[in-house]
Amino acid sequence: MSPIEAKNKIESLTAELKQHNYNYYVLAMPTIADFDFDKKLEELSALEKQFPEFADPDSPTQKVGGDITKDFVTVRHRWPMLSLGNTYNEQELLDFDQRIRKAIGDNFEYVCELKFDGLSMSLTYENGLLVRAVTRGDGVQGDDVTTNVRTIHTIPKKLRSGNYPAEFEIRGEVFMHLKAFERLNNERIDAGEVPYANPRNFASGTIKMQDSSEVARRPLDCFLYFLYTERQIFKTHWESLEAVKSWGFQVNDQSRLCSTIDDVFAFISHWDKARFDLSYDIDGIVIKVNSYAQQQELGFTAKSPRWAIAYKYKAEQVQTELLAVTYQVGRTGAVTPVANLKPVLLAGTTVKRATLHNADEIEKRLMLHEHDWVFVEKGGEIIPKIIAVNLDKRSPGAKPVKYVTHCPVCGTQLIRKEGEAASYCPNDEGCRPQIVGKMQHFISRRAMNIDGLGDETIETLYQHKFISRISDIYELKNHAEDLKKMERFGEKSINNMLDGIEKSKEMPFEKVLFGLGIRYVGETVARKLAVHFKNVDSLASASFDELIAAEEIGERIALSILEYFSDEKHKEEIAKLKAQGLQFVTVEKEVKLASEKLSGQTFIISGTFEKSRDELKDIIEQNGGKILSSISAKLNFVVAGDNMGPSKLEKAQKLNIPIISDEELFKMLE
Ligand code: IVH
Repeated sequence: MSPIEAKNKIESLTAELKQHNYNYYVLAMPTIADFDFDKKLEELSALEKQFPEFADPDSPTQKVGGDITKDFVTVRHRWPMLSLGNTYNEQELLDFDQRIRKAIGDNFEYVCELKFDGLSMSLTYENGLLVRAVTRGDGVQGDDVTTNVRTIHTIPKKLRSGNYPAEFEIRGEVFMHLKAFERLNNERIDAGEVPYANPRNFASGTIKMQDSSEVARRPLDCFLYFLYTERQIFKTHWESLEAVKSWGFQVNDQSRLCSTIDDVFAFISHWDKARFDLSYDIDGIVIKVNSYAQQQELGFTAKSPRWAIAYKYKAEQVQTELLAVTYQVGRTGAVTPVANLKPVLLAGTTVKRATLHNADEIEKRLMLHEHDWVFVEKGGEIIPKIIAVNLDKRSPGAKPVKYVTHCPVCGTQLIRKEGEAASYCPNDEGCRPQIVGKMQHFISRRAMNIDGLGDETIETLYQHKFISRISDIYELKNHAEDLKKMERFGEKSINNMLDGIEKSKEMPFEKVLFGLGIRYVGETVARKLAVHFKNVDSLASASFDELIAAEEIGERIALSILEYFSDEKHKEEIAKLKAQGLQFVTVEKEVKLASEKLSGQTFIISGTFEKSRDELKDIIEQNGGKILSSISAKLNFVVAGDNMGPSKLEKAQKLNIPIISDEELFKMLE
């Protein structure tokens, strides 16, 4: 390779890997398989060795990677959080074993552990109490997420009595069980929200939420795997695992002591199959030298310990033929391409379809051609993914697959908004899956939960032109006679349905709001909006700034709400539903003031607390206080939780507004 080629390649790889680090650590939305990332990192590292003059001092080969999120307080790690070297085959593991033998001789043991696929967490305990939980961040400093971590039941907030040091740090992996992942991700799909690709991303997205009551709703779990103390109190890693177990920590019981590398290989090959029976994802095995003295002797490289390594399993892959690409139109109009595959067995199930995500995936990343042979992989993801095309098997005259330009159902030209990957059919008034999907969403169990009315009935009623929008459902009672003339519509079922529809008028505003199917307004967001804005009129007239001042409402959601209410058709529909008697006002629990102690005082609540922010808000209001939506000179107090955003903090300090804790707030009420 010529120097100029090397320079270009180093620059492009550096930029690409930095972006992947950002996607992984900051956005929690990786767009590359670990294996491919490691290969690229290796390639960059080799080039940097050959052409050190072109290496970026800030190269991804020089650090753990990642970044810090601005919403949380940044904490420096007392002991840097390093990553592990990765190996993918036996030879690399034998090399690792040889390096160790060369350095410390043959007299040592390994501890083999499962490599949990979650996010690493550092927990600090003082006098037996959990005082701090910090994410890995960039390895040097991370986000303080203590309040969120406190919601994890298997992490002890207070230790059982035991012989633990007054102060220590323990590290482990926070993860989500597969069952919980599937259940919660389905809820997201129902709400028209973007589903998480795998349990790891879900766990990592959850731990970075501002509202710890929402975190508590999403069950996370944690296995602990490393103890740090100021002075060494144990001789071996194994001994420390036994001890921390007795103090009340959850340690995985699959770990094994191995005295030879063959034992290690046996452990690896056992879990290569058995991992599919676990209730959580693992992506490999971690192998650690057991003795602390020997660990010390081996030391560290800039990025990882020399005494430990990860053996990563390659996700199971098979090859199969692409039969056709079809398109699904969702209730929001989003058009999703699906690869229909020649059925093939993969990780125990028959795969017939794989997601293709969007146009770029088809035309740019895969450059898919008709009847291509493709490699399909199933990792943590439930839906298999096409990893690459086998170019050797492409027939000479094969035509490239072109993403549809028009809606496959109604024929309308699709639109793609700038910066968005997905294409949409804009014909929301005339495109069947959108019209029917919106009504089906409205009546669904988690929205209006209408008894006696199901998805199929909605489809039939639409086909027979009884309904084409939500408000039509409430007019059905005027067509009872015509309904009776239809096949399979008995009098009893019609009455049941009409009763269910009538009864749904009592459903609270938050359910109606969720049922309207505004993009990105899932169940939780709808609840937050209903609490914050109290009625549809103030929500509909809220400005962008007013919207993002509400808890959990970000720019993306705010823009979607503004767009929804700027449409006259939507306003008319809401007016109709109001007239039909649906709830568009939040029914507040009758506020009987508990006291007047906070009367005349104004507050802002920021950060995360033991209680949810809504609870704190209630407490303030019940004692006569008022909540403001932004920091201004009019404000009397900022109630600051664990992870108050730095910009808010700065603003409050500039204006000299007293910053108090939740405990100080409670004292004001005593
Ligand atoms: S030990 C210095 N043990 O894998 C050693 N890590 O690629 C620190 N991980 O950052 C790590 N299971 O997030 C260790 N049994 C285990 C693990 C484990 C998962 C994660 C951890 C770490 C990453 C390294």
